[in-house]
Amino acid sequence: MVEVSTSILSVKKGEESKTFFALEAAKTDYFHIDVMDGKFVEKDTYQTMLEYASYIRRISNAPLDVHLMVEDVKEAVDDFSAVEPNIITFHLEACKDEKEVMETINYIKQNNCKVGIAIKPNTSIKEVYQYLPYIHMCLVMTVEPGKGGQTYLSEMTEKVRTLKKYIDENQLEIDIEVDGGINLRTAPEVKKAGANILVAGTAILNAVDYKVIIDELKCPIGDVSL
Ligand code: DX5
Ligand code: ZN
Repeated sequence: MVEVSTSILSVKKGEESKTFFALEAAKTDYFHIDVMDGKFVEKDTYQTMLEYASYIRRISNAPLDVHLMVEDVKEAVDDFSAVEPNIITFHLEACKDEKEVMETINYIKQNNCKVGIAIKPNTSIKEVYQYLPYIHMCLVMTVEPGKGGQTYLSEMTEKVRTLKKYIDENQLEIDIEVDGGINLRTAPEVKKAGANILVAGTAILNAVDYKVIIDELKCPIGDVSL
């Protein structure tokens, strides 16, 4: 079953509360919290995302899907564990070696969170295979991390398909999340390729009716929305 994780990165200033309540009412499956430290990526959203996540935690039961685009992953895990996220995803590229990746996986688990690993568009999908038995989700970035509103990189569809094939061949139970440029045009191909959690920011936040767009993003492959 496909789920939708709404990225709050591009929420309009001054409309945060209204937007979060409306997304809760529209039954977004997750709130996607894009944490950027101004070092791993250029933008710094760290404190803003901490405030937003704390606020959402108070008004909604929807799970928080925290996407760490930071160099100091452990520090961010400490800070964001306070808002009791459902899952914390860190970038493979933020770790210097396998030992650090495994330490980070275990550190997140010790904070009672599920674990995801994210990979940038230029990182080979093979780099993540060895960690799959230890994590709950693989986040395939379908844009270069760092900002919302970018265009989907169509060559990522094959990457998702390759990951799905590997997961099925190895009888693993892993969610595949895609993130960046996901909308009604690109959703069908990534779902067909095997993604089961779609992150969308612009496509949802710019819609007139959040529930309509969320339901249309989720509708099973081949279903034509009425
Ligand atoms: C980019 C973030 C994405 C982004 C998605 O670094 O990880 O979550 O906000 O935004 P859209 O859906 O607008 O591409
Ligand atoms: Zn993200």
